[in-house]
Amino acid sequence: MTTSTPSAPGPGGARPAAPPPLPQTLLLLGATGDLAGRLLLPGLGRLVADGAQPGLMLVGSGTDDWDDERWRRRVADSFATVGADGPRVAELIRATRYLPADVTREEDLRRLLAACHGQLVIFFALPPTVTARTAAALSRIGLPPNARLMLEKPFGTDAVSARSLNDILARLVAEDQVHRIDHFLGKSTVVNILGLRFANRIFEPLLSSTHVACVDIVFDETLGLEGRAGYYDGVGALVDMVQSHLLQVLALIAMDPPPTLEARDLRGGKAQVLRATRVWDDDPERWSRRARYTAGVIAGRRLPAYVDEPGIDPARQTETLAEVVLAVDTWRWAGVPFRLRSGKALSGRRKEAVVTFKQPPRVPSGLIGYDQPDRLRIGFGPDQLGLDVNINGPGNPMELDQVHLVADFGPGELPPYGEVLRGAFEGDPTLSVRGDTAEDCWRIVAPVLEAWRTGAEPLREYPAGSHGPGDSLLAPAAGERR
Ligand code: BG6
Repeated sequence: MTTSTPSAPGPGGARPAAPPPLPQTLLLLGATGDLAGRLLLPGLGRLVADGAQPGLMLVGSGTDDWDDERWRRRVADSFATVGADGPRVAELIRATRYLPADVTREEDLRRLLAACHGQLVIFFALPPTVTARTAAALSRIGLPPNARLMLEKPFGTDAVSARSLNDILARLVAEDQVHRIDHFLGKSTVVNILGLRFANRIFEPLLSSTHVACVDIVFDETLGLEGRAGYYDGVGALVDMVQSHLLQVLALIAMDPPPTLEARDLRGGKAQVLRATRVWDDDPERWSRRARYTAGVIAGRRLPAYVDEPGIDPARQTETLAEVVLAVDTWRWAGVPFRLRSGKALSGRRKEAVVTFKQPPRVPSGLIGYDQPDRLRIGFGPDQLGLDVNINGPGNPMELDQVHLVADFGPGELPPYGEVLRGAFEGDPTLSVRGDTAEDCWRIVAPVLEAWRTGAEPLREYPAGSHGPGDSLLAPAAGERR
């Protein structure tokens, strides 16, 4: 998946030698934070261990008063979590530097930029308001023309701030040099939605309102807050998961087939479908749910109530579970509900997109026991593809049973953050979120956030380790089994 086109043969048919790639520097802002240590550096380690980006230099920066030694230990520890080693990894760790800085200040940014060489990639692992102030400061001092910017989600805090951040970024670099990160787009099973849909004859013709009853995109986690109060309490489940990751999955499932998987076509297809997406019936009070967990036990582990976790302000009314039903108003999907849900501290992990098909127009009388529709399941952990189909089961040959066909996927070549970093290093924005799409994702959830802010939709509670609130919008229909 690349945006580059083969260069034309030179005179006599010989291809001109490709210019050697510029050495690159990854400038990591927010380097001492949780995201960098847990996800970003491990992804980088795997990428470097696999031989990508020879000569890459890493510069870390944060407000903590660390020195190079302490920083190198953090990089080495993070790399070790994914078994990233070898001479390239050792060289990167040896050469990496840490510079304490307040990146919203121009003089600090100048100092950081002076420490970088070659092709510059800046990763903003920062809260959205700090990202906006940093981008504004950068726009006053300027950037090398070929710089690439990687911005972690959430991109802004609402549609207006996302638009204003887009405006600042547009003054800094071209849109294709902005990589708005959604690491779900680096998950191999998520990307595989494209292969499943567009490289097979058997599913794509069925994916429309003619045949599909509903689409569920669910990401239920057993994990609770995991010490991330500083980030999570200002965000909540809707913004953390639905506004970002789950809408990207929706776009891949609902988009029309693009002519190529180049950035322009793929991102254009996703943008079109998200532009057509809105809350079902335009009624967020009826078609959204929010809840937060109380104390409970998950797999023998006792979890305190969300509001009793250190750093939580109960007055914020932050939800740890969000559900919303969306309509995709296109010819293909009109009338099909897309039900999105994500929650923390639930009894079990359920991470999948499920396409539920309508009943066959008529099940011949004589076939007994039709009670479940067919379903296509795309699992995001475990990474699986599943198909639930009705067959004449064993025993009475006229009696129907449902069988579950399952194929396990192998792990992706790289962890998701390795994949999105590779995109930025190679200058390929295919797996990043385009600016207008980032704004549209805020537009889609804005009515829900507003209904929640005014209290029109109450904040429910569920014990940690339960299935979530009882009146889920994803409750199975009568006669349907999970
Ligand atoms: C992150 C969210 O973006 O995605 C987390 O901030 C969530 O709250 C995580 O747990 C889920 O992604 P993954 O890749 O860990 O399954």
